[in-house]
Amino acid sequence: MIFARIAGTGGYVPGLPVSNDDLVARGIDTSDAWVRERTGIGFRHLAAPGETTHGMAANAARRALEAAGLEPADIDLIIVATTTPEMIFPSTACLLQHELGVPAGGAAFDVQAVCSGFVYALTIADKFIRSGSHKRVLVVGAEKLSRILDWSDRTTCVLFGDGAGAVVLVADEETGILSTAMHADGSQTSILSADAQMAGGSVVGCPFIRMDGQAVFKFAVKALAEVGAEVLEQAGLGLDGLDWLVPHQANIRIMQATAKKLHVPNERVVATVEKHGNTSAASVPMALDVAVRDGRIQRGQTVLLEGVGGGFTWGAVLLRF
Ligand code: ACO
Repeated sequence: MIFARIAGTGGYVPGLPVSNDDLVARGIDTSDAWVRERTGIGFRHLAAPGETTHGMAANAARRALEAAGLEPADIDLIIVATTTPEMIFPSTACLLQHELGVPAGGAAFDVQAVCSGFVYALTIADKFIRSGSHKRVLVVGAEKLSRILDWSDRTTCVLFGDGAGAVVLVADEETGILSTAMHADGSQTSILSADAQMAGGSVVGCPFIRMDGQAVFKFAVKALAEVGAEVLEQAGLGLDGLDWLVPHQANIRIMQATAKKLHVPNERVVATVEKHGNTSAASVPMALDVAVRDGRIQRGQTVLLEGVGGGFTWGAVLLRF
């Protein structure tokens, strides 16, 4: 049997941390106490104007390749999850292929599932590896969300940050990804969107994130709890077999409510939202990388990755690290 195993992880944040107080100093009508209490967010990183989504993706990818002991030339498929590509086309994955020096010829494409994007991309990569068609896949979540934030809307701009996370997946005969699930409900578009379109050379609609925070909160907790239980059942594992929960880093209260529903103690939940804010498709691989590098997540442990986001979309990947 062929499994897709994570051979290396990498993460990247641009620039210095920007605190809640820094946002107040920049004129945003908020406070450190309000943001921390409602979301658990203390800091975020914001990319400089010239920094690109694929450039951040490349920084995370180089670290993941190094951790895996592989070279760019070893990669036969690149999948990038992003909501903030540089351009309509080429895809961020194609730009990344060139930036990294991955030889032309392998496949490269983007996945758009907003904050579930990385979990979707990992699920797709797992299927490519299991089928035997590809052996070493680079999966990246990268976002420059600051480009689509309305800095005059305090209900959204305090929540998000920029960054990238990456994993290298390799074919393995013994262990790796155990089970996966992806879901969508297109009737929920109105509670979270950035509905701008390009039409006749102009932007039509809203290019910024708009959100019904309370509706998102309720949807996210239910979806994350259900999909977590689903992949555990698929793999024939109980909760006692789970070492770490790495959920999408939107909000500490969503993460804790999900953990409670799944009966996972908070000390088994990897939370980086305090330092990174919500980095959408980048949040799960960035959190995974932090917990791998600080030694919490060890080889052989069982890890549940979960995403939920606009669309609505949600999904989970259960793996033996
Ligand atoms: N600073 C200070 N006050 C604020 C801010 C702010 N940044 N934002 C809103 N307020 C005010 C509002 O104006 C309102 O004031 P009012 O009572 O005078 O009208 C008050 O705070 C309460 O506003 P609510 O929107 O009711 O606040 P709520 O308790 O719902 O918290 C929040 C808002 C944090 C967004 C919450 O709904 C939430 O966590 N939702 C989840 C959304 C989320 O995490 N989205 C991430 C993207 S989606 C994803 O990644 C899955």
